[in-house]
Amino acid sequence: MDINRPGTAQVIRELDDLIKRPIHSISPEYLKKVETEYFDAKCAKSKEMVEHANKVIPGGVQHNLAFNHPFPLAFDTAKGAKLYDVDGNEYLDFLQAGGPTVLGSNPDSVREKVEELLDHCGPSTGLLHEYEVKLAQLIVDLVPSVDKFRMFNSGSEACSAAARVARLATGNKHILKMGGAYHGWSDQLAFGIRIPGSKFTQSKGLPLSNFVFTEEFFPGDLKALERNLKLNKLRGGTAAIFLEPVGPESGTRPISAEFVQGARELATKYGALLVFDEVVTAFRLSPHGAQHLYGVMPDLTVFGKVVAGGYPGAGGLGGPDKYMQYLAAGIHGDTKIKKALVAALWPPPRCRRWPATTR
Ligand SMILES: Cc1ncc(COP(=O)(O)O)c(C=O)c1O
Repeated sequence: MDINRPGTAQVIRELDDLIKRPIHSISPEYLKKVETEYFDAKCAKSKEMVEHANKVIPGGVQHNLAFNHPFPLAFDTAKGAKLYDVDGNEYLDFLQAGGPTVLGSNPDSVREKVEELLDHCGPSTGLLHEYEVKLAQLIVDLVPSVDKFRMFNSGSEACSAAARVARLATGNKHILKMGGAYHGWSDQLAFGIRIPGSKFTQSKGLPLSNFVFTEEFFPGDLKALERNLKLNKLRGGTAAIFLEPVGPESGTRPISAEFVQGARELATKYGALLVFDEVVTAFRLSPHGAQHLYGVMPDLTVFGKVVAGGYPGAGGLGGPDKYMQYLAAGIHGDTKIKKALVAALWPPPRCRRWPATTR
């Protein structure tokens, strides 16, 4: 199937136009009315909970999605497309946890299976489980570029793993990402998350030296991408081009199918891996990911919580065997790495003696 999104150029024109227009704010009188008549009158339990949360959680919430004016709402029921806060107010849930609950919130089919597994296995053994194999098989069957799938704890972790695999596979150092795209908050990929007022630090707590090998290119601009690739050729080569295939920030600045195709060709030309971050798009745009819609095969695909039906603490990386072998566990890993490790570690260092402990 082809996704020649005819609207892309028009959407970008309209966005550019929009930011030139004056900003219309909600009038202070109307805001006051909403604060008093809705939030104060109907959300008292949320307000009380937020006061407690502020004492024990930095900023009062665990995720940016939950920020809200005049205070975050606390929810205790989520079902399909509906949410209910602790005061019993009903909402239509357009957020869906930021994307991963593609079947809607808390679908019976997923919850019942989770409950069944918890009943006899608990949350984790750290050992092999049948459902890890079933999940990997399903992703291999569905996503065209994936021959093997490795589970991680989050999309952020899977993006970091993709950068490592790309460096191992290409021997190159630099990572290119599209301006405004989010690939999790790992130190090297937090590049471009600018905190207003932080001047040179791009993300709180990170010195610029963290980003020595990370650069951004202008969204949807193949010439800009090639300029970066040429420059990198002179200083250590590009290991990976990271793309959110629909465009940065979940496609809020869309990119064309021609750009995605062009990025594929440029990655091959400059010896870099093309990484599709499908944290938002996988199993949502199509059961086979954005890559199927665009008809473009990435070298690596990043997945997020969607692989665990929206349950937190999940993500993964998929790709062909020749790249995924770098993530093989233990002694089955890449033989070149294995030989280097054995050479470095043999003979083993003398066992250090620890003082006896008393319990
Ligand atoms: C495109 C994209 N990549 C990576 C991530 C990071 O995933 P996680 O929050 O699971 O670390 C997100 C999260 O919103 C995302 O939207």
